[in-house]
This record gives sequence, C-alpha cells and structure tokens, in this order.
Amino acid sequence: MRIDILTLFPEMFENVLGSSILRIAQEKGLVQYNLFNIREYAENRRCVDDRPYGGGPGMVMKPEPVFNTIEAIESQTDVRPRRILLTPQGCRFTQSIAKELSKEPSVMLICGHYEGFDERIRTGLEAREISIGDYVLSGGEIPAMVVIDSVVRLIPGVLGDSNSTVNESFNEDLLEYPQYTRPAEYRGMRVPDVLMSGNHQKIKEWQANHALKRTMEQRPDLIMNKKKFSLGNIEK
Ligand code: ADE
Repeated sequence: MRIDILTLFPEMFENVLGSSILRIAQEKGLVQYNLFNIREYAENRRCVDDRPYGGGPGMVMKPEPVFNTIEAIESQTDVRPRRILLTPQGCRFTQSIAKELSKEPSVMLICGHYEGFDERIRTGLEAREISIGDYVLSGGEIPAMVVIDSVVRLIPGVLGDSNSTVNESFNEDLLEYPQYTRPAEYRGMRVPDVLMSGNHQKIKEWQANHALKRTMEQRPDLIMNKKKFSLGNIEK
C-alpha cells in the first residue's frame, strides 16, 4: 500500500512512522509512506492560511496549496489514491473503516490545521471525511497517525502472527476478553483456573462469555448497535 500524507508539519510523523510496527511494515516492503509539505506547493510559501470571510476567530487553510499538492502527487501516479480528509466534521472512524482502507492500494491523508479548511477543499476534492472522535484537536496530523496505525497493522503480513488481529476488540462488535500471563498469582490476584486447565472447549466458552460481559459493562452501545442492525434485517 502506498500512503501519501499531506501536512504542514511533516516532522510530526517521523518518530511515529519510524518506530515499531509502522517501521517494520515499511521495511518489509508492505507499505510506503510519502510525506508532502503543503507549504512547498503554495504559490506564496509564507501564506497557506487566511482570515475567514464573514469574520470570526482563527485562520482558515487556503484551497490553492492543498489542490496544488494533490495535483502534483497525482500527476506522477497511475493509481488514483483514496482521498481522506481528517476533520472533526467527518464520519466517526471505526475498525470496519480501518479494515476497508487496509484493502486499498493507495490512500491519501490530508491534514488540516488552524481553525479549519476552506469549504472548497471539502467540496472540490470528493474526499472521504473522517473524524477520530468527538473532540477537536489542533490539526489532522495526530488523527492521520491514528488512521495509519490502525490500517497498516491490518495489512496481511504486517503482524508476525496472522491471527493477531482476529481475537481483538471490535471484531464481531465485541471488546476483547481479558488476557493473563505468568505468574499465576500476583498480589493476591489469581488467574482464573479455567485458563490454566488445558480444556480448550471450556477456555473458548470463558473467553466468549467474558468478551460479552466486558462489552456489556464498558460499551453497551456496541451491543445495542448490533441488535438494531439484526432487527433491521429481520424486518426486511
Ligand atoms: N482535526 C481536528 N480534530 C480532529 C478530529 N477529532 N478528527 C479528525 N481530524 C481532526
């Protein structure tokens, strides 16, 4: 997968892309990260933002440097990348969007800064708009890193053990069951006997029950959403 990142702060990505799983994925040749500094594509390099028409606080990112950057990148590539705009106004990012993006050959992440984008960036680019949650960050860079991390680890071959993503949270809309390692007892807290019993059937049941219990306690909304979905199917 090719991942193009358009940002005013490329240096923010260096440690994140150069560490852990994201670095290994690039070393294995499974992903290629390309950083583009939007400022370098501005007609006037010192001016990538301006005051909003109609007044109001803060600065707004101008359309021209962003369009110029995208055109420069796309003029050199055969595959048109899936364009993604990181913005608090976007659709909420989920594991299922991460799975969908992990199958794309080419993804372009466009990071805004300042108070926001000129609306023509949104309307003119036909990009998918993604928010990582209902809070406002000072730019799209950290959200882009969140998207990259969650997508890249799903690319086949990136994680050593191909099962590593099967049992984790949000698969089947459930949180992951509790996990334990040695010692069997720590500060009076014991590992449940069933997990040390060697009875695989019983262990599976325990894991399934605890995934459900934990989801009901911590994220009942995941179960409610699932119910709504299956009721919808029945009605059809
Ligand atoms: N830019 C600022 N806040 C954001 C958020 N919550 N998600 C995506 N992009 C953002």
